[in-house]
Amino acid sequence: MIVLGVETSCDETAVSIVVNGKDVLSNVVYSQIAIHSSYGGVVPEIASRHHVLKITYVFEQALKEAKLEAKDIDLVAVTSHPGLIGSLFVGINAAKAFAYANDIKYVEVNHLTGHIYANYIESDFYFPVLALVVSGGHTELIIMKDHYQYELLGQTLDDAVGEAYDKVGRVMGLPYPAGKALDDLAFTGKVTYDLPFVYLDKDSYEFSFSGLKSAVLNVVNKANMKNEEINYADLAASFQNSVVTVLVKKTIKAAINHNIKHIVVAGGVAANRGLRKALYNAVESLPGIKLTFPSMKYCTDNAAMIAVSGYFKYLAETGK
Ligand code: KG4
Ligand code: ZN
Repeated sequence: MIVLGVETSCDETAVSIVVNGKDVLSNVVYSQIAIHSSYGGVVPEIASRHHVLKITYVFEQALKEAKLEAKDIDLVAVTSHPGLIGSLFVGINAAKAFAYANDIKYVEVNHLTGHIYANYIESDFYFPVLALVVSGGHTELIIMKDHYQYELLGQTLDDAVGEAYDKVGRVMGLPYPAGKALDDLAFTGKVTYDLPFVYLDKDSYEFSFSGLKSAVLNVVNKANMKNEEINYADLAASFQNSVVTVLVKKTIKAAINHNIKHIVVAGGVAANRGLRKALYNAVESLPGIKLTFPSMKYCTDNAAMIAVSGYFKYLAETGK
C-alpha cells in the first residue's frame, strides 16, 4: 500500500510517500525555523501563511522524488491534531483536496502517534511496546498492546521536556529551538549545579519540568544580580542530567512493571544524545527489552511518520 503523508502541525511543511509503513520513497520537509528564530519561538500566524505558500510545492516535490503520480497513491494520511490550528488547517485541506480530486482513501492521524510510528520505519514493533514521547509540546508514557491500541500511563503536569529545553536555552542565550544546542553544550560541561530531580509521588508515571526550569532561571537571575560568572556548560550539563535521570528512571520502572518487550522513544527530544546514552545504558542490564530511537531525520517533525501511522490506522479501522 502506497501512502502519502502530510504534516503541517507546527513550523514544518512536510509531505512524504511510504510503502507498507517501511519503505520511504520520499520525505520532503520545508522547515520554517529560520523565519521564527528571530522571534524566539513559533509565531502561529506566520507559520500558517508559510504553509499556504509552500504546501503545493512540497506535494509536487514528494511525488517527483518518489517518481510517482497521484493515481499511484492508495491512501492519504494527514496530521489532524494536536498542533497550531491555523497550521493544521492548511495540511488538512490540502490533503482532503488531493484525496478527493484523485479519488484516494483518506485518514486523519494524531501527531503523537506519528512520532511513535517513526520508530517502525527502521524496526518492527515487539508488543507490548512502551512509548516515551518527548516532544516540544508533550511528555508522555504510553503502552501499546498492539498496533493502534494506546493506553496513557502518565504525562507531564506542566511543561513538556522540549519546551523546558527551549525556555532554559533561551535564558542561556541559545537560539530557538534550543534543544540541540543545549544538548551539545551539556556534553562540554560537568554536573556541578544543584538542581531538583522531580519524581513526584514515587509510584507516579507523571512528570513535571516547570520547577526544574524555574530553578535554572533562578541560578541565572541570582548570578546576574550578584555580578557572578555562570558556567553555562556546567549549567547545561546539570539541567540535562536532571531531565534525563527522571525520564530514564520512570521509563525503566514502567517497562519492568508492565512486562514491556520493546521501548520506543519518540518526538524531537528523542534526538537528545544524553537521553540516548543513558537509556541504552539502563536497558543493557535488562536483556529481555529492546530499545529503539528513530534516526535523527525522523525524530523531529516529518511526514514519513504520519504516512506510517496512517497506514496502521487504516489497517486497524478496516480490520486488514
Ligand atoms: O517533536 P518536535 O519536532 O515538535 C513537536 O511536535 O513538539 O520537537 C521539537 C522539540 C523542540 O523543543 C526542540 O528543542 C527539541 O525537540 N529538540 C531537542 C533536541 N533536538 C530537538 N531537545 C533536546 N535535545 C536535542 N538534541
Ligand atoms: Zn512533533
